[in-house]
Amino acid sequence: MRYSFIILLSICILACENSDGQSDTPTPTIPTVDAGYTPEVSLKEAASFPVGMATQAAYLDFFSYTDVLDKEFNSLTAEYQMKQNIIHTGPTAYNWGPSDALVNYGRRKGMRVHGHALVWHQSVPDWLENFEGTDAEFEEIVKSYIQTVVNKYGTDVASWDVVNEAFNDQGGIRETVFLERMGTDYVAKCFQYAREANPDMLLFYNDYGTVWDQAKLTNMLAMLNDFQKRGIPVDGVGLQMHITYNFPEISRIQFAVDELVKRGLKVHFSEVDIRVNPDGDISTFTGERAKAQEDRMREIVQAYQTIPPDLQFGITFWGLRDGDSWLINFWGNPEWPLLFTDAYQHKLAHKGFVEGL
Ligand code: XIL
Repeated sequence: MRYSFIILLSICILACENSDGQSDTPTPTIPTVDAGYTPEVSLKEAASFPVGMATQAAYLDFFSYTDVLDKEFNSLTAEYQMKQNIIHTGPTAYNWGPSDALVNYGRRKGMRVHGHALVWHQSVPDWLENFEGTDAEFEEIVKSYIQTVVNKYGTDVASWDVVNEAFNDQGGIRETVFLERMGTDYVAKCFQYAREANPDMLLFYNDYGTVWDQAKLTNMLAMLNDFQKRGIPVDGVGLQMHITYNFPEISRIQFAVDELVKRGLKVHFSEVDIRVNPDGDISTFTGERAKAQEDRMREIVQAYQTIPPDLQFGITFWGLRDGDSWLINFWGNPEWPLLFTDAYQHKLAHKGFVEGL
C-alpha cells in the first residue's frame, strides 16, 4: 500500500516534467537575476581615468567593504560627511572627525579624494539658515568656511564641488539663502573665494538634470560662458548621473558632454546610479533589468570615452552596494541602482562598464 503510493507519486511527478526534464511550474513573470558575474579586471585597472566611490567614514571599518573599495576604485568622495551641515556645527565650531577619516583613508591608500560639496542649499547648517546678522556678515561666514575647508585639506583634497545644484528645474537660478544673502552673483563669488584659498585647486560646478532638462542645461552653460568671459575660475563640471535604465536618451547625455568639451572644461560623471525600477513595476531584481542596466552602463561609459583624456576627470558611483543607495529612501521603491549586490557580488553593470571602455 505504502509502496504503491510512492510509485503513484513518482508517476505523477514524471508526468509533470516536460521533455527537458524540468519541472513544468509556470515560468515566474519576474525572474530574479542570478548574480554571478566574475570579472576579469577591476574598474580601476581597466579605466584610463579615475573611478570614484561615494562613501561614509563608518564603512571604512569593514573589511569586506574596503576589500572591494580598494580593488575596484581609486577616487573617493564623501557621500555627505564633507558637507557644511556636518562640518560647520557653529559659527566658529568645526567637526572634522568623519572628513578626516575619509581623507586619511584616501591618503593611506593612494586614492584621490574629491571634495563634495562646499555650498549646497540642502546642507546649510540650521544656525546659518537662520542667521540674524547682516548680509555682509553672512557672506563673510561663507567665505571663511570655504577657505578654511580648502586650506585644511590642501593637496589631500585637490578638487572640490564648490557650488552644488544652483539651478531650478526648468527655470532659472534656485532661490536659496545664498542667493538671498549674497546676491545673484553668489556662485561666482564662491568660486573666487575657493581660488583665493588655493590657486591649484580644481574647482567644479555640480548639478543634476543637466542631461535631460534643456532649460537647466542652457542656464548652466550660460553661467559657464559668463564665468569664462569674466575670468571667474572654474575648471570642470560634475554631471550628476542619477539616471534610469531607460531615461534620458544617450544623445542627451552626449549633447551635454559635447557642450562642456567645447568649452575646455573637465567633465566628471559624478553621482552615477542607474535606477531599474523608476515605475515601481518590479519587486525583485529581474534578469531583464540587470541586462538593461548593463547595456545602459556600457553606453554611458562609451559617451564618456568621447571626452579627450585631459578633460576626463573621472566617473564616480554614488554608493557601492545596492542596499547602500540613497535612492531607496528617496523614491520609496525597491531599487538596485549600483554595481554590487548587498553580498558584494559583481553585477552585470560592472561588465557593461568595462566593455564600454
Ligand atoms: C545625498 C546622500 O546620498 C544622502 O546620504 C544624504 O542624506 C543627502 O545627500 N545630489 C547630491 C548629493 O549632490 O550630495 C546627494 O547625496 C544626492 C543628490
